[in-house]
Amino acid sequence: MRFLITAGPTREPLDPVRFISNRSTGKMGFALAQAAAEAGHEVVLVAGPVALETPPGVRRVDIETALEMLAAVERELPAAEVYISCAAVADWRPEVCSPTKLKKHEMAGTLRLVRNPDILKTLRPLKGTRTFIGFAAETGEPDAEATRKLREKGLDMIVANDVTAPGAGFAHDTNRVTLLFPDGHREALPLMTKHEVAQRVIACAQTLATQTE
Ligand code: CTP
Repeated sequence: MRFLITAGPTREPLDPVRFISNRSTGKMGFALAQAAAEAGHEVVLVAGPVALETPPGVRRVDIETALEMLAAVERELPAAEVYISCAAVADWRPEVCSPTKLKKHEMAGTLRLVRNPDILKTLRPLKGTRTFIGFAAETGEPDAEATRKLREKGLDMIVANDVTAPGAGFAHDTNRVTLLFPDGHREALPLMTKHEVAQRVIACAQTLATQTE
């Protein structure tokens, strides 16, 4: 099966030295790519700026901004059967990116931002029989928000986690997630390594993709 996986943060530049971004380290997305490759799948990994080695057998496409991630996903999606959107895409970008470093005196105390596109929603018309899986990183009990995102983005499964729970979330090697499905079925997994979580998610993706073939 052919998997397209996004990972890491995006970085939205303000000038050549400054950007806005988030705390994603890419560990969960890279674990997914590794687990999919280990299970014998073809994997394309679209990665934001992270300090991680490419897992063996994975084709990696590096991007920086949300618009670049959207362009890469648009290019790679037609060949994929499963799309797992694990990236922490920045929802906003600075309205203007200066080609030269902004001097303090040239900057106002407020930053004008514009919305980035929602990559999953933008690509929804191309879904067809493809399996789409999203992630929802929330602070606090994640199920309600994750269910809203599952519906709004037309996903086949969403992986929800509370990034403030012990051992879960950004930069950790472990995660505690709940898998949520459109029919209301949910599966709460115990605290596991990100590699073990990835193996479960890839196994579910495989089952879902086989059902829609
Ligand atoms: N996502 C996306 N494009 C964006 C933002 C998010 O494709 N511009 C994807 C993420 O990769 C993830 C899912 O949508 O699979 C949920 O992302 P999340 O940041 O939790 O939610 P948002 O849609 O940004 O909603 P909110 O800001 O209300 O939490």
